[in-house]
Amino acid sequence: MARLDDLLAMLPPVRREAPCVRRVFARAAECDANGGGWRLVRAPGRVNLIGEHTDYNGLPVMPMAINREITALFRPLPRGQVSLLSADGFRPRVFHASRAIDTYRKGDWGNYAKAAVQKLTSEFGLDSPSGLEAVIGGDIPGGAGLSSSSALVVAMALAFAAVNNLEIEPSRLADLMADGEQYVGTRGGGMDQAACLLGEQDRALRMDFRPLRIQPVPLPEGAEVIIANSLVVAEKSAEAKARYNLRSAECAMACALLGTHYGSEYPLLAHFHAAFEDPAAALEGVIEPRPMKPEEIAGRLAMTMGEFDQHFLDLGKGESLKVPGTGFQPYARARHVLTETRRVEKAQQALTAGDIAEVGALMNASHASCRDDHEVSCSELEALTRAARESGAAGARLTGAGFGGCIVALARSEDVSSVLDGIRRRYYEDWAARERPELLEQMQGSVSDNLFTSRPQTGARVLG
Ligand code: GLA
Repeated sequence: MARLDDLLAMLPPVRREAPCVRRVFARAAECDANGGGWRLVRAPGRVNLIGEHTDYNGLPVMPMAINREITALFRPLPRGQVSLLSADGFRPRVFHASRAIDTYRKGDWGNYAKAAVQKLTSEFGLDSPSGLEAVIGGDIPGGAGLSSSSALVVAMALAFAAVNNLEIEPSRLADLMADGEQYVGTRGGGMDQAACLLGEQDRALRMDFRPLRIQPVPLPEGAEVIIANSLVVAEKSAEAKARYNLRSAECAMACALLGTHYGSEYPLLAHFHAAFEDPAAALEGVIEPRPMKPEEIAGRLAMTMGEFDQHFLDLGKGESLKVPGTGFQPYARARHVLTETRRVEKAQQALTAGDIAEVGALMNASHASCRDDHEVSCSELEALTRAARESGAAGARLTGAGFGGCIVALARSEDVSSVLDGIRRRYYEDWAARERPELLEQMQGSVSDNLFTSRPQTGARVLG
């Protein structure tokens, strides 16, 4: 347990200077009348280079941890009390650690801490856990597809584990938190927590699931990753969540339809993928390449409508997915996931070979497939990826769940400043100013807070 000054000195100089880190330390110093004894936790956001909407199908992704993170100072509190102070202006939160914690209302930042604490308390059967006091801040743009929520969950999990002397392997903690985050009502595929915990310096992570496996893939020298926020806040809206869950349901419908044709069960597209040499080709001619009404899919699967609803649309707690007016698109969704998996494999080879042009081309193809087959793009992401390419990026694509949030672009080092410049002019100063001025008015921070480069970073850690 170190003094605040000693903890600050443990951070790399660029983090020491970050305004959010300054705020965290200043806020903690104000609480210091109660004595020192702080420890520090850092948990980075992530950007996904390629492999979008594949993880919940059990198929690979290629994220990396980024240089924007949650920073929290924490120390134990007796009787399981968890007391959270935000250095970013969110309301203070106090609750008690237990195996079943009531949620705050939807969207409350405290729910992410509750998710972590409840999961660890129940998983480890803690009867009288230590609580904690924490001062938390961060500079991961929120609702931008950079996993700010998972970073908060991971930071709180590491802090709570530390005050309770729980030693948990990072990959196990990633699985636990992927599960634990369901507490806030989203069922992600596991990429976000794993990228936050297992990030490696200068390496992207080829990640496979069930069980989680990581192959570090060096980012070629001379390549830079650019992240740009469309400023459309995606993940927080209920509609984006529903559309995300719908994609997962449509993939499950595709699995069921493929199963009836091939006479096998494919619980996930990963199982179908494993059964064929050329899975994208095996899809052709089996599911019609057009929207399908629920009655037609149910009929093909010999299910009653009640069974269909329960199997594909039920979200639990009395909620269920709405049937889109245009019908479901199992063919297009499966085609995206299967072709995207091939692109992840090729991108791993191209990165390893240092072939920046090829990685860029694969990123562009991934974006097109996300837009046309998975339908998770929007006009802002189109304008932003176009701006990046027209400014000289080797490739650009939406990253994360889509429907808004960020793009990721790859550029040669010598082109970086002109690409950043070009994106600033073409998107923020021109397109968005003309088409969506309200996005700029509501923007958190400056353009530079929303348009930046990052090398791959080390994963989340407790210091001190
Ligand atoms: C969200 C989820 C991830 C993943 C991406 C899409 O970020 O949390 O698990 O599914 O969307 O690739």
